[in-house]
Amino acid sequence: MLDEVTRNLRIETGGRYIDCTTGAAGHAEAILNASSPGGQLLGIEADPHAVKVARERLESFGSSALIVNDNFSRLEDICLEHNYFPVHGILFDLGLSSIQLSEAGRGFSFQNDAPLDMRFNPDQELTVADIVNHYSEAEIARIIYKYGEEHASRRIARKIVNTRPIKTTFELAGVIEKAVGGRKGRIHPATRSFQALRIAVNHELENLETALRQAINMLGYGGRLVVISYHSLEDRIVKRVLQEESSNCICPPSSPVCLCNHQARIKLVNRKVITPSPEEVKQNPRSRSARMRAAERLMSASDSSLNKAGLFLAGLTGCLAEAMSAINLN
Ligand SMILES: C[S@@+](CC[C@H](N)C(=O)[O-])C[C@H]1O[C@@H](n2cnc3c(N)ncnc32)[C@H](O)[C@@H]1O
Repeated sequence: MLDEVTRNLRIETGGRYIDCTTGAAGHAEAILNASSPGGQLLGIEADPHAVKVARERLESFGSSALIVNDNFSRLEDICLEHNYFPVHGILFDLGLSSIQLSEAGRGFSFQNDAPLDMRFNPDQELTVADIVNHYSEAEIARIIYKYGEEHASRRIARKIVNTRPIKTTFELAGVIEKAVGGRKGRIHPATRSFQALRIAVNHELENLETALRQAINMLGYGGRLVVISYHSLEDRIVKRVLQEESSNCICPPSSPVCLCNHQARIKLVNRKVITPSPEEVKQNPRSRSARMRAAERLMSASDSSLNKAGLFLAGLTGCLAEAMSAINLN
């Protein structure tokens, strides 16, 4: 969804952008090209291997591209550490990169036999092997139900606990298959449980909610936030946060009068979710589940005066960068 990303981020010449999920830097490169001359990109990526790939790919952009190996749950701190705010646009392209899926030893796919790992960042201590082999049956069932929406979660958890230790992806996929009584449709019976364990080990949903709120804080007035999610659990969080943040009242529907004094900090760019074109799905079948949502930063009464000054300066910086590039071009 490269065109949709650059269009919805409304990339400006000389603008300042953040890619919170840099991966192999396909989107990052497109953003830098579209904002050239003078555009800047701060890329955040949890996986050190992907960071290396991204840095090599963006080498020709020199100091315009800064890629940091960090978690986007620290977005605000990262921006403060690099004096990189307010910004014109922020992108989240959630989930796994093709690099991670193709690295057989990372344990993300049960198509390859590998240790039970699935960490985005190999420096993190907790692995899927720890969850599977040390968590209680009730906790494993909760994870598989909550993050995999798997109705056979209790049966699967019981079988896991009765079979452990379980060391590899093939072993785990086999245990899950036995627990649910073999394969039924086209989807492998372990698909939902593997998704659930990956979400749990990387704290994906908690990190997403925290980072979305921080992203709104870091956007300059008129700046754009674009989020691409790949499953309904992620999309539900994105939809809820964007709806709350674009509303002037978040009181429960039962409340007869507004008591919350909430102020909208964004407006939705599209009412409906954006999905990839049939041509893109044909070319890249993995894109079929992609859901894109976009929002634009408003200046709200609840912004602190410091924030307002920052937002005003961001707008001014954008205009200046545009004027400078126009002078350079002429
Ligand atoms: C779908 S890929 C991004 C692909 C990228 N847009 C491209 O064009 O190549 C998602 C990336 O986000 C990274 N990621 C996921 N959660 C993260 C987090 N909390 N902090 C930083 N990076 C994260 C993953 O490691 C993965 O490389």
